[in-house]
Amino acid sequence: NWTTGSVIDDQVAAIRATVGDSAVLCALSGGVDSAVAAALVQRAVGDQLTCVFVDHGLLRAGEAEQVERDYVAATGIKLVVVDAADRFLTALAGVTDPEQKRKIIGREFIRVFESAAREVATAEGVEYLVQGTLYPDVVESGGGTGTANIKSHHNVGGLPDDLAFTLVEPLRTLFKDEVRAIGRELGLPEEIVGRHPFPGPGLGIRIIGAVDAERLAILRAADKVAREELTAAGLDATIWQFPVVLLADVRSVGVQGDGRTYGHPVVLRPVVSEDAMTADWARLPYEVLERISTRITNEVPEVNRVVLDVTSKPPGTIEWE
Ligand code: XMP
Repeated sequence: NWTTGSVIDDQVAAIRATVGDSAVLCALSGGVDSAVAAALVQRAVGDQLTCVFVDHGLLRAGEAEQVERDYVAATGIKLVVVDAADRFLTALAGVTDPEQKRKIIGREFIRVFESAAREVATAEGVEYLVQGTLYPDVVESGGGTGTANIKSHHNVGGLPDDLAFTLVEPLRTLFKDEVRAIGRELGLPEEIVGRHPFPGPGLGIRIIGAVDAERLAILRAADKVAREELTAAGLDATIWQFPVVLLADVRSVGVQGDGRTYGHPVVLRPVVSEDAMTADWARLPYEVLERISTRITNEVPEVNRVVLDVTSKPPGTIEWE
């Protein structure tokens, strides 16, 4: 007899019973899962929870602001924001290899989070770390069903031993649509609750070529158009994900405005999927594709060509890197 209200009540009680008076820490990613997990824990233990949001500068337009402003306004959560964009850009300078990019972003994330976590832990004596693990993640890692919401394996994600917290995973029995329903019930902004999955390395792996501030600005502008038009067409819920990819080292000839241009292509990669393990390219209506193409080439001067990826997964992955 599943209702969002009863799940929230049960989880709040379970979290209170587990955490007691201890301090709790959570890393917000900007995604749905960590946002809902943190909001549940906040509902349960209020200011005992501190959230850390590492802004790596690789998020899409408006996303950092939605976490820093709208999410905090909706939840009253205690949030520490670390603006680390310069640090990530410096570490990524000149790097083109996809695996290298991922390693660098992962390493820098852990370093930045570690130092923020250490400050909070020193000030408040943190014992618990919230993670937005969902049921499919549990199954995938062989964890079985289990009714326990709290799992006590330590030292996740490369944190050093002296920062080994006990995990609180209030979403362990839930699927994504249930998590979204709970987020809505908790009053979280639709821009966060309805958000498509987004990779941890962010736009860093959607720029084919080296990442820099200028390229990020181009991709952000193009991606914003695609997202706006998908939403305006009412298609957010039917599409699993809609990466927009900047082929930063490719140029082609075009005519824009008064003359010849030599700009970059962007690739539209809308996909439908159940679980991201396999995917099919989404048959977006031609009118929607047309609006996206026209607007991107009008509004983003560095882009003079918009192409559509019609590859399923396999053989293509969803992301290009
Ligand atoms: P691929 O590209 O392998 O992606 O088909 C499958 C799903 O995983 C997401 N993805 C990531 N998520 N960290 C994440 O949190 C990552 O490094 C990462 N790489 C890919 C991708 O967006 C898709 O939903």
